[in-house]
Amino acid sequence: MPPVPISPVRVGHIDDVQELRKTKPRTIPERFIRDMMERPTLTTTPLSPTPCHMPIVDFSKLSKGNEEEVLVELFHLATACENWGFFQVINHEVDLNLLESIENLSREFFMLPLEEKQKYPMAPGTVQGYGQAFVFSEDQKLDWCNMFALGIEPQYVRNPNLWPKRPERFSETVEVYSGEIRKLCYNLLSYIALGLGLKGDVFEKMFGVSVQAIRMNYYPPCSRPDLVLGLSPHSDGSALTVLQQAKGGPVGLQILKDNTWVPVQPIPNALVINIGDTIEVLTNGKYRSVEHRAVAHEEKDRLSIVTFFAPSYEVELGPMPEFVDENHPCNYRRYNHGEYSKHYVTNKLQGKKTLDFAKIQTKNTN
Ligand code: OGA
Ligand code: NI
Repeated sequence: MPPVPISPVRVGHIDDVQELRKTKPRTIPERFIRDMMERPTLTTTPLSPTPCHMPIVDFSKLSKGNEEEVLVELFHLATACENWGFFQVINHEVDLNLLESIENLSREFFMLPLEEKQKYPMAPGTVQGYGQAFVFSEDQKLDWCNMFALGIEPQYVRNPNLWPKRPERFSETVEVYSGEIRKLCYNLLSYIALGLGLKGDVFEKMFGVSVQAIRMNYYPPCSRPDLVLGLSPHSDGSALTVLQQAKGGPVGLQILKDNTWVPVQPIPNALVINIGDTIEVLTNGKYRSVEHRAVAHEEKDRLSIVTFFAPSYEVELGPMPEFVDENHPCNYRRYNHGEYSKHYVTNKLQGKKTLDFAKIQTKNTN
């Protein structure tokens, strides 16, 4: 979330989804109704004949296990990253009370009166504050979601005017939570590096002063979840993303695996981790950032708290030499990560399209 100066964008009228639910619970305005091809499948179990479940990584085996446990778990982690781009991490050593606090406070924030939330407005074309991110035109379809996002680190990405005064302790809890999640990200990145046969500190060194942002997504219930999307399909522009699904919520996150949308069953107290575009580029596509989306639910609301962890905007990125050889031609060009971030936040979410920015288009040899 770079503090990019953005030219004025006309986004048209954007309904606040929670307010819509309050006043017109049966109405789905046209702008939320997806084209046929985009409408979701709403099963809560995978459709494929062999039910597939997102891999689970036991963090405590990596951090405290004996030599053999570490090796086995590194292998799990590496396979999860390569085959899924997603995994759920259990025993992650982030204080469970803190997870509960951030969840409660986020929910309290979304339950505040609209006027209170609108004290922290997301300006059109920007991605911090309360509102709908990634809307850039008047005819673009809207997500069935209210969002609140903040840049966290380094300090210069912060907009202090957007840090809420209510609920009490919201801002300080975001601070403590983000510190803990940051530690988890560094640890996971070091295990990911080891699993790739690299030195443990390679990403930490390469990333410089990492950029971190948080986004709370609140998905109100929807009388016609078959017509809308909670969040449009996208890959994350980060290196790693950490997603906390609030307790008791319905299944809502879906990932595109082998061309099928696979729902992610929440595991209590686990965190969902996914590989972002940065790691895809660095590994020359060995680990890929997987497309995902969220769907709405007819009766239940859903809350997620998402941390994006990325390199410093100053860093130049491109495939690491370890992943390029005769059999693995270089698929991505080198680019400045700040430029990529700017590109990401100034385009609508559209599957993996944003990564075309970095792709070397293979020539058609016909
Ligand atoms: C995101 C995201 C999914 C969810 O915020 O990037 O993918 O379940 N969220 O909220
Ligand atoms: Ni995402």
